[in-house]
Amino acid sequence: MDTKIIKINRNHDFKDIKSQLKLFADIIKSGGSVAFPTETVYGLGADANNPEAIKKVFKAKGRPQDNPLIVHIKDKEDIYNWGKDFSDKGIKLMNKFWPGPITFIVKKKANVSSIITGGLDTVAIRVPADIIARAFISASCTALVAPSANKSGRPSPTEFSHVNTDLFGEIEGIIDGGESTYLGIESTVVDITEDIPIILRPGSITKEMIESEIGFVKIDRNLSKKPKSPGMKYKHYAPNADMVIVNGQDLDVIEYINKSIESDFKNNIISGIITFEENKDEFKQGIIKYIGKFNDYELISRNLFKILREFNETDVQKIYVQGLENKGLGYSIMNRLNKAAGDNIINL
Ligand code: TXA
Ligand code: MG
Repeated sequence: MDTKIIKINRNHDFKDIKSQLKLFADIIKSGGSVAFPTETVYGLGADANNPEAIKKVFKAKGRPQDNPLIVHIKDKEDIYNWGKDFSDKGIKLMNKFWPGPITFIVKKKANVSSIITGGLDTVAIRVPADIIARAFISASCTALVAPSANKSGRPSPTEFSHVNTDLFGEIEGIIDGGESTYLGIESTVVDITEDIPIILRPGSITKEMIESEIGFVKIDRNLSKKPKSPGMKYKHYAPNADMVIVNGQDLDVIEYINKSIESDFKNNIISGIITFEENKDEFKQGIIKYIGKFNDYELISRNLFKILREFNETDVQKIYVQGLENKGLGYSIMNRLNKAAGDNIINL
């Protein structure tokens, strides 16, 4: 398949970007799929009102049919086309955090295709903040389903080259908007169908931020066994190498990783390390990638998927990573790391 590519300068104004995207909006209108940037990760967009187009998205990604998609709408008011029975707390959260990196699970209206929802009676909705994403939805004159634009199981794409590697030749278009503008992990997913909202997927809008608006919310901690969010049970973000998370005091972690790498080396295993800039002189062997300063969770989250992908271009068979504090954005980052590691965790 011929994949059309357009590069968009996000400093242009909304109207200008929208008119530059006309050809790509026409692809959506005729049932094709186009990858586009959002403030979290790139999404693979298709017309949410066209079941045949949605099926193609599942196929291009190699995504299981029971893993439902997020419907991206251009503004809050459009929610009434897709969902119903919104709670007061839910509306408060939408008003506070939309447009932005948060997705709400609401009761679906009868017209919402079960292909989108994987047969559930709820639907996931998001109003992205990114100017290119908003202009593209608006130019397409519809809502867009958009899972992350990676092959299923691989790290989500935070820049054009990631999408290109995974999906070139398998989708009709890619909109190159450079790097994702926000924190580089996918949106927080919050179920607002019950009295007390439940975080199904942690993200850059943290539990603490949500609670400061509406009080106590739950976290679905059963994420890898029988999660409420079907997507959380699948292996994700997986680098080609085996990944090991090492939690503990800094010095203990460094010692553990150095010893492990020495023994890997003796066994002809090539190892890599994801570490903080502060520890850059501490490791003696292995392929080392710095993810950011120890306390700079924003930068760490922005670099995470990029680094996982970079390791796939090396020969490493094992990757050691220092665990972060499980709080705030650190909790969301650890959620992705735990999945990438398949819960292979050493607690010192
Ligand atoms: O930041 C993001 O959310 C990106 C950008 C492109 O918007 N999209 C994204 O989509 O990450 P995807 O498909 O990779 O992840 C959607 C998650 C999955 O874990 C899925 O199972 C869950 O949302 N989900 C979708 N509909 C749901 C529903 N009705 N109930 C529970 N979980 C749902
Ligand atoms: Mg995904």
